[in-house]
Amino acid sequence: MLQIMYKRRSVRQYTAEPVTPEQTRQILAAALLAPTGHNKKPCRFIAVSDRELLDKLAAAKEYGADFLRQAPLAVVVTADGSLSDIWMEDAAIAAAYMQLAAEALGLNSCWSQIWRRPRRGEGEETQWAEDYLRDLFALAPQVHVLAIVAVGHGAGTKQARKEDDLPWGHVSYDTQPSGRSE
Ligand SMILES: Cc1cc2nc3c(=O)[nH]c(=O)nc-3n(C[C@H](O)[C@H](O)[C@H](O)COP(=O)(O)O)c2cc1C
Repeated sequence: MLQIMYKRRSVRQYTAEPVTPEQTRQILAAALLAPTGHNKKPCRFIAVSDRELLDKLAAAKEYGADFLRQAPLAVVVTADGSLSDIWMEDAAIAAAYMQLAAEALGLNSCWSQIWRRPRRGEGEETQWAEDYLRDLFALAPQVHVLAIVAVGHGAGTKQARKEDDLPWGHVSYDTQPSGRSE
């Protein structure tokens, strides 16, 4: 697991190779295995591999979602705010689990933030990226969209992180961390 964590990097360029249905299922299993506060399981996940729909996801916000245009798979991470007041934590853990599962399967991934991100379409009124996706998937008003996780076979390689490169000043033992925030 630690090796997978060192290796995982945000990859935003993908080859045309598809993610297989079994790989998709394993990634979704990881999301369903994630812990949730009070075990309320407020998250719902939408796996998208339809090219036209992926293009629509890429247009969910002004920047920072473009790479979805290339990705063979994206998982929209939603959560019902009426089921839990800590849906955001639950959804974030599920998204992180999916990214680690993707890495474990030899795939790459990247998070695209949706919650609290605006969308400015050309000549269109500014709206929340979340509301654009609410319209696209007919989501109920109490359902939030935290993020979209893109998954695919990375084009090119990114360096794995090394233990010595980590910001060790951000942690401390038995006292306040001394390292500056970066
Ligand atoms: C909460 C969160 C939101 C992020 N939002 C975006 C995003 O909208 N677009 C994007 O390209 N990357 C996004 N990222 C990826 C980060 O930019 C990336 O994790 C960070 O630069 C560290 O790089 P690494 O993932 O390779 O370790 C997000 C990551 C997290 C955890």
